[in-house]
This record gives sequence, structure tokens and C-alpha cells, in this order.
Amino acid sequence: MLVAATFVFAGCKPRPQQRGDAVRGAALYMEKCAVCHGQDGNALLPSCPPLRDSEWLAGSNAPLIAIVLDGMRGPLQVKGRTYNGLMPAWRDVLTDQEVASVLNFLRLQWSETGEPVLPAEVARIRENTSTRQTFWTEGELRSQWPPRRK
Ligand code: HEC
Repeated sequence: MLVAATFVFAGCKPRPQQRGDAVRGAALYMEKCAVCHGQDGNALLPSCPPLRDSEWLAGSNAPLIAIVLDGMRGPLQVKGRTYNGLMPAWRDVLTDQEVASVLNFLRLQWSETGEPVLPAEVARIRENTSTRQTFWTEGELRSQWPPRRK
């Protein structure tokens, strides 16, 4: 997809493999996620949180992967604002590789954290949460995967 080539990966030094992965992720993002989160990551709808500089992107991989797999519902705090929306689930839509690619894209594009997300990690969390049939809440995510100390 052409739009992927227009992105500039600034602010961190991704490994070449991760960069290629993120280019695939950019195309996926434009197709599946930008309709709500915006092409520039600043969100298009008032009920939808931004991804640019989101503390969730800066946090650890597991809750991020969980959000993409099973979605979430508010209330949710992002950058000092409370959101009460619904994030759709992608468990049956995206493969492990696709979830990893889209998250690698988000990390490189809009976060200071360049930590890669690997398909094997997505597979592990998919397996560990396989009986889950419902959206995550912020409280559940934080108790399952306590945030890192700063
Ligand atoms: C139908 C609109 C919609 C689509 C499509 C969508 N999201 Fe979301 N997303 C939301 C909403 C709304 C929330 C906040 C839910 C809440 O209030 O708890 C959210 C929350 C998030 C969060 C955590 C909060 C943040 O801002 O960091 C991440 C990460 C995320 N989405 C990633 C994605 C990715 C990746 C995709 C594409 C695979 C995607 N979203 C597609 C609406 C959407």
C-alpha cells in the first residue's frame, strides 16, 4: 500500500526487521483502525482515544495485545481524559503476525517506546485468554498486567 511509504519513523532506531514489519502494519492500520483512531493517530471521534503518545503504547506489550484481540469498553483514561467507548475485538480477524505488525507500527510511529512485539507473544496471549468472550475494562487489564513502575 502506497500510504505506508509516506510514514516517517522518527524518534527511535528500530531493527530493520521491525521496520519492515511496521510498514505492513501501517497498511493494516489504515485499513482497520484509522477509521476511528485517525490517520494521524489523534482520533476522529470524541468517544475514541488517541494512539499518538498514549500511555498504553508506552506500557508493556501484554495489555496492548489483549486490547487488540478482545477489544475494550470504557471508562478508560488516556492522556488525562476519560473515554467511554467501545473498541472492537480483532481475535477472529487478525493473525498473530498482523497483530504484531500493527502494534509495531503504532510503537514506531507514535510512541517513545520502540520495544518490538513478536508474533509468538501474541500467540501466547491469544492462548492464555482464549476462553475470554468479552471486552476488557481498564481495571481488568491493570490487575492482570500491573503497569510498570516509572
Ligand atoms: C470502531 C472504532 C475503533 C476501531 C476500528 C479501532 N478502535 Fe481502538 N479503540 C476504540 C475505542 C472507542 C477505544 C477506547 C475504548 C474504551 O473507552 O474503553 C479504543 C482503544 C484502543 C487502545 C487503547 C487506548 C489508547 O488510546 O491507547 C488501543 C491500543 C487501540 N484501541 C488500538 C487499536 C488498533 C490497533 C485498531 C485496529 C486493529 C483499533 N484500535 C481499531 C475504537 C476503535
